[in-house]
Amino acid sequence: MNVLVTGANGQLGKCLQEVAKLETSWNWMFTGSADLDITNAEKVQQFFENNAVDIVVNCAAYTAVDKAETDIENAYAVNAEAVKFLAENCKKHNALLIHISTDFVFDGENENAYLPTDITNPIGVYGASKLKGEQYVQELLKKYFIIRTSWVYSEFGNNFMKTMLRLSESRNELNVVADQIGCPTYAMDLAVGIVAVIKSKSENFGVYHFSNQGKISWFNFASEIFKLAGKEMKVNPIPASDYPTPAKRPSFSLLNAESFQNEFKMQIPAWKKSLANCLKKYQNA
Ligand SMILES: NC(=O)c1ccc[n+]([C@@H]2O[C@H](COP(=O)([O-])OP(=O)(O)OC[C@H]3O[C@@H](n4cnc5c(N)ncnc54)[C@H](OP(=O)(O)O)[C@@H]3O)[C@@H](O)[C@H]2O)c1
Repeated sequence: MNVLVTGANGQLGKCLQEVAKLETSWNWMFTGSADLDITNAEKVQQFFENNAVDIVVNCAAYTAVDKAETDIENAYAVNAEAVKFLAENCKKHNALLIHISTDFVFDGENENAYLPTDITNPIGVYGASKLKGEQYVQELLKKYFIIRTSWVYSEFGNNFMKTMLRLSESRNELNVVADQIGCPTYAMDLAVGIVAVIKSKSENFGVYHFSNQGKISWFNFASEIFKLAGKEMKVNPIPASDYPTPAKRPSFSLLNAESFQNEFKMQIPAWKKSLANCLKKYQNA
């Protein structure tokens, strides 16, 4: 079985490369943006013609949430139009598309954790471009899994955990937003989840949610990072209104991952346990 992974040098792509070491019976094709720029329709088409792709895991994305507010064309090119190219080729070659999306497709007005069936209403360009990508997948394909995730971190790339650790080298007091609620996702857990999706051979195609288990704020997340890493840091909870950013973020974006856990028979770990795992790996590296 040939599995194409796009965006293989991002956080999730790198985690999939780790997890793939245990799944040696599949032929993994890991491509970064230099090998396969998914916005290049011709290159994408050629790739499918030259390789018998059975499954695509699309980890490529324009993830600079604030920059997207002004770099609208590029955000849509990667998060929407390129996803359409992938979906068109999956259709032509009867391949399964596993597409990764985001909690930012929601407006944050819910009181309970978002279900995959809840109404979307993005409040920023990044979320809107990702939603457009989802819509192309759903319009073009029957064989797809869209997996929405949230607050992704790992030992790789740039993320909140690594930013907090970096800041702890030069600061001993920090203000962190306490009124945005959700749950972090360790990209390694999601990579394990994606393998579970493939192994399940499930035909219950559609939209699923995946995040670690729990309900916290960025303030809680930061506090636990410093505690587990043994860093002396005074963390002050602040409202998001005291930390203005170019892109508005949903104040509540907790994802309900029950249908994922039931369908793919995976118990997703609690966020604290996964953070401890990730920190251990990062600090040992
Ligand atoms: N990070 C989060 O907090 C978060 C939250 C919710 C959902 N998600 C979703 O989770 C998925 C994985 O995110 P991540 O955190 O692993 O992202 P990431 O670390 O930013 O990686 C994204 C990757 O996409 C690649 N890429 C960008 N444009 C491309 C193009 N035209 N062709 C091919 N590759 C391209 C980038 O490669 P280059 O660096 O070479 O450009 C980068 O390696 C994405 O779908 C994202 O929307 C992420």
